[in-house]
Amino acid sequence: MTVARAQRFTDRRVVVTGAAGGVGRVVADLFRAEGARVVGTDVAEAERVVACDLSDDAARDAFVATALAELGGLDVLCNVAGIQQFAELGKLTPAGLRRHFDVNALAPLMLAQSFSEALVASKGNVVSVASISAVMGQPYNAQYCASKAALLLGMRSLAVELGTLGVRVNCVSPGGIETPMIEAAAAGLPADVNWDLIAKSQSVIPGFMPPEDVAEALLYLASDVARSVTGANLVVDRGVVW
Ligand SMILES: NC(=O)c1ccc[n+]([C@@H]2O[C@H](COP(=O)([O-])OP(=O)(O)OC[C@H]3O[C@@H](n4cnc5c(N)ncnc54)[C@H](O)[C@@H]3O)[C@@H](O)[C@H]2O)c1
Repeated sequence: MTVARAQRFTDRRVVVTGAAGGVGRVVADLFRAEGARVVGTDVAEAERVVACDLSDDAARDAFVATALAELGGLDVLCNVAGIQQFAELGKLTPAGLRRHFDVNALAPLMLAQSFSEALVASKGNVVSVASISAVMGQPYNAQYCASKAALLLGMRSLAVELGTLGVRVNCVSPGGIETPMIEAAAAGLPADVNWDLIAKSQSVIPGFMPPEDVAEALLYLASDVARSVTGANLVVDRGVVW
């Protein structure tokens, strides 16, 4: 049985990155289910998704132009795309670090800037997916943690600047989610991985979350109900204790 959803986004114009899979696809579907007009993008090809490697400056600028032409403005920017590859000390490389910063921090910040004029015009908002990794040290995860911390503080900084112009900027910080990301990341774990070190971080509610639980937090922050929320970091992590 399909449950009718509230129509919080009727005719709102929404851009969702990382829309080909995982959390991003669910976010795009939920916005559409609540009446929004959505342009999704991803480096991976998928139905109803504009293909774009967001770490490529020219391709990203071209995507911004495409989205604005299609939507005729913008009410919500959702930065969901991200990458994670574990790398132990000794295996960090400039290329790996740059890639994480390019995709996880630079692209969302540049997209926010590129769409800012449209968002100021609509008094819209930005919601970005950071991570609990932005605020805690995790073994073998320096490049991801550093890039997500940069994203979180970058977005908080934009919240101050754009707040004066009527645009809200928030982050959602998830813990473990049931998506392909973790499996892909695990390829970088060392052969002699110290599981005791990893097990120090536990969630009160066991197991990984379905992507819907994270998507719902994004929609809340993007909605008018959250009109007094800006510069926030909404943690959705099943109660991680460290
Ligand atoms: N999976 C987790 O446990 C977890 C935990 C905390 C935060 N997050 C964050 O949640 C967000 C969504 O991740 P997910 O779990 O759905 O993973 P996912 O791998 O399923 O989705 C990420 C999407 O981003 C896209 N992407 C990657 N690089 C890109 C690029 N250069 N340009 C455009 N698109 C690109 C991928 O193709 C993919 O569709 C990410 O920002 C991730 O860092 C995930």
